[in-house]
Amino acid sequence: MSELPAPVSKVVLGTWSDRVQAEYATGAAASQLALWLIQIGAPRELIVASLRVVEEELDHAARAFEICRLAGLDRPRPVDRASLGLPRQPDAPLEHDLVRGCLRVFCLGETYAVAVLAEMRKVCTVVPARAVIEQLLADEVAHRSFGFELLAWLLERDPAARAIVDDELPRLVAELRATFGTPGGVEVGPIEAAWGVVGRPVYAAVLEQVVATELPRQLARSSV
Ligand SMILES: [Fe+2]
Ligand SMILES: [Fe+2]
Repeated sequence: MSELPAPVSKVVLGTWSDRVQAEYATGAAASQLALWLIQIGAPRELIVASLRVVEEELDHAARAFEICRLAGLDRPRPVDRASLGLPRQPDAPLEHDLVRGCLRVFCLGETYAVAVLAEMRKVCTVVPARAVIEQLLADEVAHRSFGFELLAWLLERDPAARAIVDDELPRLVAELRATFGTPGGVEVGPIEAAWGVVGRPVYAAVLEQVVATELPRQLARSSV
């Protein structure tokens, strides 16, 4: 483990700044799901668990910003308000949008996040960044479990919603592949790795491993 001050780069700053935005956006999406759960009269414990995720994602955004500050950023980047929250398909029942949102944010999103964070932890040696990665990883594992629990409840309530899962998952995976599965991305050298930055090839490989192994395993475990 290295002690501060560690050398830093624009890529380090950009990556941690993106992380702030991603955590904040996940908090917004989880709050939308919590509201939808309230609207359909879901059990209190599911609503409360969803709100707990909101709180933890806001905490993740704040902790990721601490790392930005260490890397030299004074203020968070403004968030694009239009990108926050989840889309509602006006003609579809709310329950269907809940299934889609749960799949996107918790099931696939958190399963991918856990796998990527595990790769970040392998290379990160800057102590404060490593501590944040450890915290995020622990929380995202719990969020992933909650996602599959929520999905199982939604499908128990409406077994026909399984068709939405079958339709939606390949589409969500294709979206992720279009972003993370293509060549490009930032250059990652020893400075970036020390701050826990991993390159596009790692994101791409982890995505395929998640799709082939981890996602089916989680679905099977929760009997979905
Ligand atoms: Fe998070
Ligand atoms: Fe999370």
